[in-house]
Amino acid sequence: MQFLLRKATLEDSQFLIETRNHPENVRLSASRRIITHDEHEDWLHRILKDNKCLPIIIVKKSTGKRCGYARIDQNGSTGSITVVLINEIQGQGWGPVIIRDVARMGTETLEGLKEIKAVIRAGNKRSVRAFRKAGFISCHEYKELEDGEVELVWRSRLS
Ligand SMILES: CC(C)(COP(=O)(O)OP(=O)(O)OC[C@H]1O[C@@H](n2cnc3c(N)ncnc32)[C@H](O)[C@@H]1OP(=O)(O)O)[C@@H](O)C(=O)NCCC(=O)NCCS
Repeated sequence: MQFLLRKATLEDSQFLIETRNHPENVRLSASRRIITHDEHEDWLHRILKDNKCLPIIIVKKSTGKRCGYARIDQNGSTGSITVVLINEIQGQGWGPVIIRDVARMGTETLEGLKEIKAVIRAGNKRSVRAFRKAGFISCHEYKELEDGEVELVWRSRLS
């Protein structure tokens, strides 16, 4: 793998908010809302102390450059996964490999995790394909969003 995964720290704060608030990522998010700096700081401090949340930074091995972030939020035996790559490296086939590695780090770090769930906007074709390729299976659950689109739920059982 050309990428390393490591746990996020407070020093990743600026990178995290800039990536989250990139216009394309705002459009793909469930809320379609820009996050304020104060909101972000509160959230980051909170999740870094939360042992049911695993925030991850994706780093390119050769340069040490941050290339994206991921997160697994644990609720009982299920973890909800988010993976966001910076625009420059999207669409180059890295997604499925990174998704699998994030899931693996989740099982190694979060005790009792048996299944990972991805909730994705139906229109986010690239993401749907990447998660399917990473072994996620559609479970035909969906949620309607305020803007009329739907989010689909995909699941992956962990061995
Ligand atoms: C979702 C994401 C992690 C996928 O990683 P990626 O490296 O870009 O994915 P890939 O390059 O492997 O592309 C995945 C598939 O989508 C296809 N694809 C690429 N661009 C596409 C596009 N614009 N429309 C439809 N499909 C597209 C690829 O061909 C590939 O399918 P294939 O393997 O069957 O050929 C990444 O695009 C991303 O960070 N997106 C923004 C955030 C996001 O939507 N996260 C998901 C919600 S958690």
